[in-house]
Amino acid sequence: MKISKAVFPVGGLGKRFFPITRAIPKEMLGIIDKPLIHYAFEEAVTAGIEEFIFVTRHGKDSIEDYFDYMFANTEYFNIKMGSVCYVRQNAPLGLGHAVLCAKNLIGKEPFAVISADDFISHSESCLGEMIKLYDGSNMVASMGVDRQEVNKYGILDVERETDQLLIAKSVDEKPSIESAKSTYAIVGRYLLSHEIFDVLGDLKPGVGGEIQLTDAILEMIPSHGLTGFKFRGKRFDCGSKSGLLAAILHVAGQNETLSHVVEDFCRNKG
Ligand code: G1P
Repeated sequence: MKISKAVFPVGGLGKRFFPITRAIPKEMLGIIDKPLIHYAFEEAVTAGIEEFIFVTRHGKDSIEDYFDYMFANTEYFNIKMGSVCYVRQNAPLGLGHAVLCAKNLIGKEPFAVISADDFISHSESCLGEMIKLYDGSNMVASMGVDRQEVNKYGILDVERETDQLLIAKSVDEKPSIESAKSTYAIVGRYLLSHEIFDVLGDLKPGVGGEIQLTDAILEMIPSHGLTGFKFRGKRFDCGSKSGLLAAILHVAGQNETLSHVVEDFCRNKG
């Protein structure tokens, strides 16, 4: 099934990176020479996405400036400028609310959501692999996490498992360590039916007082199912300082001219 539109929620405050994110969007923090948002965008381009919708807010203009430059330089992304739109999220009311802001730009077709916080390093596009398998049920990227960490994620209640897929019967946003039904977490790649907008529009705030995308996905399980895609590759939580640092070291370690810096650092312990 073809998916041509992707939503990039970039309206978060980036509190975990204060003070730098008082002036620089979290999505513009760099992994060496490219900002986080570049990697998410590149993954979407490789997946065949043709329309890119950024849900942005006050203080995030440098994201628009960055893409103006990138599109003017076709060696980076050979796509038409008109394929990119920006909508504003006027209050930080959660991921579900951010996705709802893109409603009028999606129309009546399935679409992707990509979180730039989740940097996935792999030779294949994670989103591209999901789109190849997409069958109309709501789909999320998923990976096993330590039980101690389940309260940071949406956690799947898995009914059946194949090599690549997890068929879920339920999902719970940030459950307690004791109550989590599995250790399979949602990672920030989603393929969703447009019908989710009706659900999001009526949704009450959930965990943290935010409109949670996970809660809308849960409500749709009887009608649209829920599949977790066990993606390949290494994922870094770049919404955290340790995750961003690990991602930088990982990318540097794979770079011909920089890997020796990482090796020297490790050898000399600084
Ligand atoms: C969001 C989602 C959560 C998901 C996570 C992945 O949480 O609500 O279900 O597991 O992203 O990174 P956040 O990290 O924005 O709190």
